[in-house]
Amino acid sequence: MPQDQIFRSPVNAGFLEAAALPLAGVTALQNLQDRMQLTDVDRLLVIGGAGGVGLFAIQIAKHLGATVTAVGSSDSQQLMKDAGADEVIDYKQQPVHTLSKTFTAIFDCVGGSSQDELFPLLERDGCLLSIARDPSEQLARKHSVTAAFTAISPSQSLLSKLCALYESETLTVHISETFPFTERGVQDAHEKIEKGHTKGKLVMKIQEDEER
Ligand SMILES: NC(=O)c1ccc[n+]([C@@H]2O[C@H](COP(=O)([O-])OP(=O)(O)OC[C@H]3O[C@@H](n4cnc5c(N)ncnc54)[C@H](OP(=O)(O)O)[C@@H]3O)[C@@H](O)[C@H]2O)c1
Repeated sequence: MPQDQIFRSPVNAGFLEAAALPLAGVTALQNLQDRMQLTDVDRLLVIGGAGGVGLFAIQIAKHLGATVTAVGSSDSQQLMKDAGADEVIDYKQQPVHTLSKTFTAIFDCVGGSSQDELFPLLERDGCLLSIARDPSEQLARKHSVTAAFTAISPSQSLLSKLCALYESETLTVHISETFPFTERGVQDAHEKIEKGHTKGKLVMKIQEDEER
């Protein structure tokens, strides 16, 4: 690992939490804090709010002062509320494009063709960032908004900020399931995540007695 991509584990995190934190946590932090530069005037829509990245995104957006609407299935509503979402939407009951309100920013953690329907929900000069699909440049121009696919670019300063947020209990980690680090366990974890309905994070346990 390059040295500038390594940081110590939070003092209050066990090994499982420390494993679940960096990738999804830095993805949310970098996009919302550095790229969107969210503040208390923002109204953020998070698509996929109960997933690994989405649950961190809700908590970080609230920490930055934004008002947060989060989207997930009925199974995900309580989890997204517990993470701090001001409003939660069940996409099976209410398709997101039928919402009557608008947002200053949208963080898309799901992608798919329904991403195109998010553009009318953005205010002029708003920002759509997706970690799952390249947004349409044509639609971005048509709606006078910024839209981009973003890839994580970890750094020690982001990891250090994430660690501080965890240590101050501003951020919690939701681990929905652990799997043994065996051929079967790895296969089961992949099959589970490929279904696209994971809540929070899945963690591989290298040894059974791993909790610290
Ligand atoms: N570009 C990057 O740097 C980067 C970094 C990390 C991850 N990623 C990618 O980003 C995506 C999200 O990652 P993740 O780890 O958060 O995934 P995940 O943990 O698998 O999250 C999936 C979540 O999406 C929700 N969901 C599924 N269909 C939905 C819909 N139509 N509307 C709203 N929510 C929906 C599910 O909630 P329900 O069960 O309630 O449906 C589930 O909680 C993945 O494609 C991953 O590969 C990219």
